[in-house]
Amino acid sequence: MNKFGKRFSFSTFGESHGKAIGCLIDGMPSGVKIDVDFIQSELDRRRPGLNKFATSRKEGDKVQILSGVFEGYSTGTPIELIIYNEDQKSKDYNNIKDIFRPGHADFTYYKKYEIRDYRGGGRSSARETASRVAAGAIAKLILKELNIKVFSGVCEVGGIKCDQYDFSYAPDSEIFALNKNCEQKWKDKILEAKNSHDSIGGVVGVKAINVPIGLGEPIYYKLDAVLADALMSINGSKAVEIGVGFESSSLNGSQNNDQISKDGFLSNNSGGILGGISNGDDIDLKVYFKPTPSIFKEQLTINKNGQEQEFSLKGRHDPCIAVRGSVVAEAMTAIVLADMLFLNMSSNIKNIKKVYVS
Ligand SMILES: Cc1cc2nc3c(=O)[nH]c(=O)nc-3n(C[C@H](O)[C@H](O)[C@H](O)COP(=O)(O)O)c2cc1C
Repeated sequence: MNKFGKRFSFSTFGESHGKAIGCLIDGMPSGVKIDVDFIQSELDRRRPGLNKFATSRKEGDKVQILSGVFEGYSTGTPIELIIYNEDQKSKDYNNIKDIFRPGHADFTYYKKYEIRDYRGGGRSSARETASRVAAGAIAKLILKELNIKVFSGVCEVGGIKCDQYDFSYAPDSEIFALNKNCEQKWKDKILEAKNSHDSIGGVVGVKAINVPIGLGEPIYYKLDAVLADALMSINGSKAVEIGVGFESSSLNGSQNNDQISKDGFLSNNSGGILGGISNGDDIDLKVYFKPTPSIFKEQLTINKNGQEQEFSLKGRHDPCIAVRGSVVAEAMTAIVLADMLFLNMSSNIKNIKKVYVS
């Protein structure tokens, strides 16, 4: 199950300390201009080692296109992208070879497969998410043709919330903060956790604008359901909230309904989705990330033989997953929207006639 999507789909391969990671994209229409610099710039946003708020692993994350592109345009054939791993320090993981890090996937991977690439978490490592960002960049090139834009950023760290979000500020912020006034408090919280050999949780906001009405395939491929699927598949994500989401269960209908005027919806509590279908308003969602499981405090665990053991971790880790996780959440949202655009083309005879009847 390393594949995601129906009409615009991608599958990823590779491990954290293997030779390379990458993705194979299927369903790409021909004639889309493939801007390699843009794909690289998206990967650079997620790249580790950029500053003290991320892991110090230094990866260039240089992407190479192996197929599906000719003379700068997509050919309608599968696009394969590859990123070679450069900065593995596998010996940092020798001391967890036979034990399971609390909060990570070590325990479940070993119990399920009975063999585990312990180096950097192997396939369960978020190194895999670079491939998603590469696939997301290709999806964004499709969305760009329709002027659909997806933005993201951090909107909460360690329980410190901010109500106002400025998606245009995030690219200028070292932690992709959605609020300039809260940024320092969030940075302090991350460094406080890091300096005490711990980690901290956070929340990411994602917004998509200019999304046409009609995306989403009820009943079992609803837009909100598939977004939740895509976003919950990101390492460390523990909840997805669409619109006012969690709060809606404590509201009255009169408070929660987005009333409709001739000029459009008067509010957007629904996050731009009704009945699993986009309503033309902004898609507005949040992803809740847990604190990074790999921490440097001494912890109790068991080894493969079930014996208890105290251990302290070595290696390089993100103190707050939400920071780089925001770029991944944005990519997954773009992929879902591209898939939904293609699926929607056959949902109404008028759309089909537009293509086949002149
Ligand atoms: C961008 C990103 C970076 C991450 N960095 C780390 C890290 O440095 N160390 C770590 O232990 N987990 C990191 N994680 C989270 C783990 O990969 C994740 O917690 C683990 O695979 C277990 O999966 P689960 O938390 O979804 O159960 C990161 C996740 C993301 C999305």
